[in-house]
Amino acid sequence: MPESRVPRRRRFLVCEPRHFAVQYAINPWMSTGRPVDVIRALDQWQSLVDTYRAHGHTVDAVEAVPGLPDMVFAANCAVVVEGRVFCSHFHAPERRPESVPYEAWFKTEGFEVQHSEAVCEGEGDLVPAGPWMLAGTGFRTTREAHREVQEFFGVPVISLTLVDPYFYHLDTALFVLDDGGEGAAGNVAYYPGAFSPGSREVLERLYPDAVIATLEDAMAFGLNSVSDGRHVFISPGARGLADQLAGLGYVPVPVDLSEFHKAGGGIKCCTQEIREIRS
Ligand code: ARG
Repeated sequence: MPESRVPRRRRFLVCEPRHFAVQYAINPWMSTGRPVDVIRALDQWQSLVDTYRAHGHTVDAVEAVPGLPDMVFAANCAVVVEGRVFCSHFHAPERRPESVPYEAWFKTEGFEVQHSEAVCEGEGDLVPAGPWMLAGTGFRTTREAHREVQEFFGVPVISLTLVDPYFYHLDTALFVLDDGGEGAAGNVAYYPGAFSPGSREVLERLYPDAVIATLEDAMAFGLNSVSDGRHVFISPGARGLADQLAGLGYVPVPVDLSEFHKAGGGIKCCTQEIREIRS
């Protein structure tokens, strides 16, 4: 275990939950009969942004659009590696219009933007991890999109099959603890039950030292976390996982986004990482 884990400063993109609601149900967490407290959601979201900033990270925001209640889940709009932006093509027709404001934001900021032809939900299913990209499929992002992503970025894409509808996006079942740097594999935390047997075996081969989460911690959105290599911004409900991470020298930073769990989202879902060209 390293003496002291070193954080890397990140640039994040977020979207204020001003129009957040559960108006349709496209994953098992969502129930249209269950009201959302928008004031509470705004409060929780603001503390996430404040916490990132307090830890030295840069946070940019896209203007929220009325009628797009899931737009707060910025992770789904794209995946960005070395300044190249691969924009999403959402599975649900209700979410497809979200691509427009996000793409406009990236263009205004001067990024090169490419669209996915196939169904693809950005960082929800595409997780850059050191020398490769981990890619979920089974519920949303398709294998065809994995192929497009590999072609666009020129990095090896490792397809992983998700099998549990509660973990419909890869970022609900796995997160990167540290991305290794210098071509090293780094490490991840994940819940094995979310994956097909073959995909589980792939993860075991790639990450023999992975942190294995329980179903309980996964259901508390513990794997929908963001790590900067030292601090892990994590759901306070995932106590067991936070203890494991602390034992490995990480610093868990609890941020409660419980209002967003009603839509099937948590910390990582609300956070898009903008990976620019490293100098
Ligand atoms: N209601 C949204 C959906 O089902 C939640 C998205 C959560 N985002 C994520 N990155 N897992 O599409």
